[in-house]
This record gives sequence, C-alpha cells and structure tokens, in this order.
Amino acid sequence: MSAHATIKRVSTRDLRARKGGVPVVCLTAYTAPMAQFLDPHVDLLLVGDSLGMVVYGMDTTLAVTVDMMINHGKAVVRGSQHACVVVDMPFASYQESREQAFRNAARIMAETGCAAVKLEGGLELADTIHFLTERGVPVMGHIGLKPQSVHAAGGFRAHGRDAAEAARVMADAKAVADAGCFNIVLEGTIEALSREITAAVDVPIIGIGASPACDGQVLVTEDVLGLFSTFKPKFVKRYADLGSQISDVAAQYAEEVRARTFPADEHCFGIPAKPRALEV
Ligand code: KIV
Repeated sequence: MSAHATIKRVSTRDLRARKGGVPVVCLTAYTAPMAQFLDPHVDLLLVGDSLGMVVYGMDTTLAVTVDMMINHGKAVVRGSQHACVVVDMPFASYQESREQAFRNAARIMAETGCAAVKLEGGLELADTIHFLTERGVPVMGHIGLKPQSVHAAGGFRAHGRDAAEAARVMADAKAVADAGCFNIVLEGTIEALSREITAAVDVPIIGIGASPACDGQVLVTEDVLGLFSTFKPKFVKRYADLGSQISDVAAQYAEEVRARTFPADEHCFGIPAKPRALEV
C-alpha cells in the first residue's frame, strides 16, 4: 500500500456537512508545487479558470479551454493528497446543453482525478446542475459576480446593490442549492445580502468579496502572495509581496552573473573544497 492510500482526502460530502460549522478554507492552485505548499492548510484547492488571467496574461477568463483546465487539474491533483480538488468548467463548455455539460464534466473528472467541477450560473443553470449531480458529478456553484459573464454584466462590479438584482442573486442561490450543489461560491456581492443568503440557504456558501458570515472563504493564491499585480480587487488581502522579492532576486542574480561572482567554487564540479582555517 502506498503512503498516499493512507491519507484520506476531504470529500465533497465532508464539505457539504460544513454548513454553519468551522469555516471552509479554500485557495486556488494551478500547479503541482503550489498545490504541495497549500495542501496541508486548506480544505479545498480550486483549479480556477482565473488561471487564464493569472498564468496566461489574458484580459478575461473567456478564452480558457477544457484542455487547459485538464492539464492544470492533473498537476494539482498530483501535487496534493489532503484537500478536495475542484476544477472550473470554462466558458462555453457547459452552457449549450446539459448533455454538453455532462460530457465535459465527465472528461475533466476522469482525466484529472478531481472530486468535483465548478460552474458559474444561477436559475438558468439549475436544470444542468441537477442533471450532473444526478449522474455522479458533484457540482460547486458560483453566483453573484460571475467573471465568465463580465461583458453581459457590464464589467467586474459588485452585485446586489438594487432590490431587483439582490432578489435575483438570492433566487440564484436557492435554485443552485435545490439543484444539488455541495457548496456555492458567492463572489463580489454586497455584504448584507451575502449574510442573508448564507442564512437562507442550507448549502455552505463560500465567499469571495462577500461576507465574514459566509461558511467559508476563497481567494486567488497569486493575489494573496502579491504575485498578480495587474489589478487588485477590493476584497483581496495581500499577505505577502513575493512579486517584489522575485524582482530583487532576479536583479541580484543578474548582477552576480555580470560580475562573474556566480557561480562560485561550491557551485562547480571538480574544484576541491578549500581546507578550513585552523581554529585557535
Ligand atoms: O476562477 C477562480 O479562481 C474562481 C475563484 C475566484 C472563486 O472562480
């Protein structure tokens, strides 16, 4: 038996049971090394389609493909052994029909080994979510600010400011919960409404730019680490500024290469170590 077989991963069932309990801790991961660093500390690793913007330098997530998600999903599953791994379904891979959604979700799950998929949408996708969950595909919902609908929504903006929009986000939450989602991401939504939704729906609500009252929180890891500097949403807390450290390291390396102080003797093969000075 391998060492991996003895460690039980957090399951979607475990996460479904976290309503009102200890908050669910979630971060994004796109690569095996990042997954390894984060895995012991989080309940859920999300392979988000935000990778289009964060890793590939795209302006939006719209051009991300199923193949990209599968490649990054495989890496994150390989790099983790504790957290539940959820992979985002990218734009245009599930909206056409529930059959299209099932085909792509099944491919993502079979090829990556992830435990669930996430898709963006509310009432209009409830039937699709029900179709998937009834067929063995655990689904994480995503409502409020939906980055794949950025053009339709008129930009990246907070949702639920007026009564009609607030009623729609609440209806979306109830619809995807009833359709069988095990957890629901609630993004960029007015705090009071996020609190109300968390109280009204019996599925754990995972907030990002939502409310501390949510049943869990998710952030994009590169935002947290200061590795993504194109823009910083209001809801991001930067815990480190690794981008500046990388820049300092590159500058120091460049200086040492140009000055021929790197590599030193200890980095070269066949140069005997210098005798240590006698201590007196
Ligand atoms: O794509 C992503 O990373 C996400 C999270 C920000 C929730 O959907």
